[in-house]
Amino acid sequence: MSGSRSAKDFFRPLAVGAPAPLTEIPARPSRAIHFFDPSNPKMAAKIPDMVGKVDVLLGNLEDAIKADNKTAAREGLVTIAQETDFGPTQLWTRINSLDSPWVLDDLTTLVPAIGDKLDVIMVPKVQGAEDIHYVDRLLAQLEAKAGLGRPILIHAILETARGVANVEEICAASPRMQGLSLGPADLAADRRMKTTRVGGGHPGYLVRQDPPKNELGVADINATRTTYQQDLWHYTIARMVDACAMNGIYPYYGPFGDIADEVACEDQFRNAFLLGCVGTWSLHPKQIAIANRVFSPSVEDVAHARRVAAAMGDGTGAVMLDGKMEDDASLKQCLVMVELAEQLAAIDPELKAQYDAIEVGA
Ligand code: GLV
Ligand code: MG
Repeated sequence: MSGSRSAKDFFRPLAVGAPAPLTEIPARPSRAIHFFDPSNPKMAAKIPDMVGKVDVLLGNLEDAIKADNKTAAREGLVTIAQETDFGPTQLWTRINSLDSPWVLDDLTTLVPAIGDKLDVIMVPKVQGAEDIHYVDRLLAQLEAKAGLGRPILIHAILETARGVANVEEICAASPRMQGLSLGPADLAADRRMKTTRVGGGHPGYLVRQDPPKNELGVADINATRTTYQQDLWHYTIARMVDACAMNGIYPYYGPFGDIADEVACEDQFRNAFLLGCVGTWSLHPKQIAIANRVFSPSVEDVAHARRVAAAMGDGTGAVMLDGKMEDDASLKQCLVMVELAEQLAAIDPELKAQYDAIEVGA
């Protein structure tokens, strides 16, 4: 691609003394990215108790934090990070957007103070590779100055029309790229979609069954016809999944704003999981349970996947199981499930017990 670094330079640090970029992004479980407001003392007080109970805790500095609280949120995050041992739980932050008056202070404060604790920095409203290049270089300079031993990764929120148009180049812009989240609220506004919600569907976005024909063979357009609500986010999620997969990074759903509607939240999360996403955001503790349930393969799927793997032996050829043909390609799908189950079992004892209880050959 014109303007990109040559293959041999791509993994060189962008500042003298900065840690070497990773050549592979580790697949750390991140089913729920739980957002908290570090300027809210009540929320901050709950963080130590959440360690080990959620895959990712994210100190939010951007939207939903009032302008008057931006400094308090940044300082609150520093204090929480310094005082908390996060154990197996990752610590992420969402910085302010690159055109805001706060983002430079966000980065120059957080990296020296808590860069050793921060796993991933989520960058909102990313428009193109140039946004990633800016943060990439700045992080390298700050990491070198702070003497950090490992690079902080970047996660981009896809929430502008231009960002979606540039999604492949965004994913490929830096070895720091860890993944993408959908930002349905900002994206809807930027695209001038006619919705007023944060994520989820809309009853007006539907397809309707054809009219039945009457005895004369004439279409009866007044007959009752079934409608099926469609997924507003299918196109964007599908593009994100392909862009992430081709670059070895991870796609996520994003916020689901109707906290009370746990059923629709679960459906939306599951669509994303089935299409290839590895996790989602949680805006309320009860969404953590939904995300953990949805983004962990079911015991039935893991049992089936292991059975196919056992039956396929060296992985070539085809076998019949329960009347269905299994071959190299269905085995590969099953191995995705088995691998994910192993990664999750390593950090989630409850899941491990469930997966371990599956009988071999069951
Ligand atoms: C998230 O940031 C969104 O805009 O949906
Ligand atoms: Mg947004």
